[in-house]
Amino acid sequence: MPTGRIPGEPTLKMTIMRADEERLYLDYAANWPMRPEVWEAMGAELRHGYNPASAHAPGRMAHRCLELARGRIGELLGCARSCIYFTGGGTQSDNLAILGFVRAHEGSGPRVFVSQIEHKACLEAADRGGLEGARVFRIPVDRSGTLDLEWLRGRLEADPAAPTLISVMWANNEIGTVQAMDDIVALGHEHGALVHTDAVQAMGKVDVDLGRTPVDLLSATAHKLGGPVGIGLLYRRPGVTLEPLSYGGGQERSMWPGTQNPIGATGFATALALAVEEREAEVARWTALRDHLEGRLLAEIPDTRIHGGEAPLRLPNLVSVGIPGCDSGALLVSLDFEGIAASGGSACGSDSSVGSGVLDAIGVPGDAPYAAVRFSFGHETTRADVDRAADALARVAARVVALTA
Ligand SMILES: Cc1ncc(COP(=O)(O)O)c(C=O)c1O
Repeated sequence: MPTGRIPGEPTLKMTIMRADEERLYLDYAANWPMRPEVWEAMGAELRHGYNPASAHAPGRMAHRCLELARGRIGELLGCARSCIYFTGGGTQSDNLAILGFVRAHEGSGPRVFVSQIEHKACLEAADRGGLEGARVFRIPVDRSGTLDLEWLRGRLEADPAAPTLISVMWANNEIGTVQAMDDIVALGHEHGALVHTDAVQAMGKVDVDLGRTPVDLLSATAHKLGGPVGIGLLYRRPGVTLEPLSYGGGQERSMWPGTQNPIGATGFATALALAVEEREAEVARWTALRDHLEGRLLAEIPDTRIHGGEAPLRLPNLVSVGIPGCDSGALLVSLDFEGIAASGGSACGSDSSVGSGVLDAIGVPGDAPYAAVRFSFGHETTRADVDRAADALARVAARVVALTA
């Protein structure tokens, strides 16, 4: 029976947290604690920690394990196994896609389009590409975080001959807006552009089928869907040319050299299989939880706004709420004191002193106190959990608004 508590098994982190039974974890978008099935599948391989590049029998066994995982992931995504390159995570895959494209087209004036609300792994890779000669454009979004495709069409038409990459996240990690990826791929291909998507947050919540949505490049990571930290992938459609970013080995067909991680790959494949199998039922369940939580927050906390709430497509398991007049840090610390693990936006930005570019892009004014709180759900989240989160946020926000005023 799901409890909604910090999942209790079997990592060290969770063993420590388990001492406090009252804690509630609602930050699955930052890290989805490893699922017991994943731990078991990895445990079975853990005893055989050999190098898959070794020619001896243990090495061949590790190689088989790695390739089984690659094949399984290929089947789940609807592509050939040879299109999957394992990396160390989403950031590395995003960098490989964008900078690999820029470097492969060095000297021919490549263009890179990224949206205003991309993850920093894409924004900063694109900026780096700009220093290396690419022309970089930021695609504007509306108040809901949805891309302005007419703006993009205009720019694509303006210079049809330039080698072009459009890099757009399938689902946003801070506000949950899901882009119309089929339309973006069609628009890009109509103008001879390649399309990369950061699908890190979309996996397991959106139906990612490369047969139906033929992106050219796709990044994903295991730890956002119940797999281990430290393994990601880049899907590359055959015929798309990328320059590797690092050198020194033939692993991953020289696209991402270095000793491979069959145990992590097994965990990734297991987690993805579970997420795909459960997706439809979970999406229905999460959508009901999300709508219930948002309804309560809007009704019970004055002047709140649901970021991305007007978007035609949204993640079912993410709620981002904005509370004006409220200090963000104080609110999050108070929630933590209440035993609730939530986030201010993206965990990746939490050590940064700069504000959220995503909130700027969707028109949240940056000149007055404003708190953004992100709750994200997983397979263990229940209705009692979201009610507890709503009760706590209403109580804490009233206190913090009074202190901030
Ligand atoms: C949308 C998105 N892209 C990329 C990343 C980075 O993935 P990783 O932590 O595996 O490097 C994250 C992590 O928060 C993310 O949310």
